[in-house]
Amino acid sequence: MLPELVVASANPDKVKEISSVLEGLVTLIPRPSHVPDVVEDGDTLEDNARLKAQAILKATGIAALSDDTGLSVDVLGGEPGVHSARYSGENATYEENVEKLLRSLDGVPPRLRTARFKTVAMICYPDGSEIIATGVVEGMISESRKGVEGFGYDPVFIPYEGDGSSFAEMGEEKHRISHRGRALRNLVEMISN
Ligand code: IMP
Repeated sequence: MLPELVVASANPDKVKEISSVLEGLVTLIPRPSHVPDVVEDGDTLEDNARLKAQAILKATGIAALSDDTGLSVDVLGGEPGVHSARYSGENATYEENVEKLLRSLDGVPPRLRTARFKTVAMICYPDGSEIIATGVVEGMISESRKGVEGFGYDPVFIPYEGDGSSFAEMGEEKHRISHRGRALRNLVEMISN
C-alpha cells in the first residue's frame, strides 16, 4: 500500500506539480479547505515548510507533506530567496514579482544573471518525527518572459540543463530537472528506505 500524505500547500499551481511528480508513489489527500492559510513568516525555507506541514498535521492528525521554495539571484545577494512570494509586496501577484525582478536586473548582462531555485520538501508525522529533503536547479534569469506554462517566475527562469527554454516553455518536462521534482523524489527515496 502507498503511504498516505495530506498536501499542506494551499497553492493550486504547486499542488498540481506535486501530484504530477508523486503520482503512483504516494497517495495524496487534499488539504482540508477549512484550515486557514498559514502565515509564512519563518526565516528560512525549512522554517516555512515546517509551519505549513505542522498546521495541516494538527488539523488532520495525518502525516503532512509541505514544500517551500525560493529563487536566489546571485547579483541581488540571494534575493528574493525566502521572500519570493512577496518580493514586490504582501499579496503580490506572480506578474508583479516577475516585473520587479526584471526591473531589478535591468542592464545586468547575461553572464551575471545566474540564479537557482531551491525547494525544501518535508513530511511531519503524528509521532513528532519529520523527514526533510532538498532539490536545487541552477540557471539564469532571462531578459524577458518566455512561455505560458508553469507559474511564478517560470517565464524568466532558464535552467542550464535544458535547451535554452524557460521553465514556462517546458510543460511536464520541467519536473524532470526542477527543484520541486528533485526534492520530492529525494523525499520519496527517503521514505521508501
Ligand atoms: P512558496 O513559498 O513555496 O509558496 O513559493 C514562493 C514563491 O516562489 C511562489 O509564490 C512563486 O512565485 C515562486 N515559486 C515557487 N515555486 C516555483 C516554481 O516552481 N516556479 C516558479 N516560481 C516558483
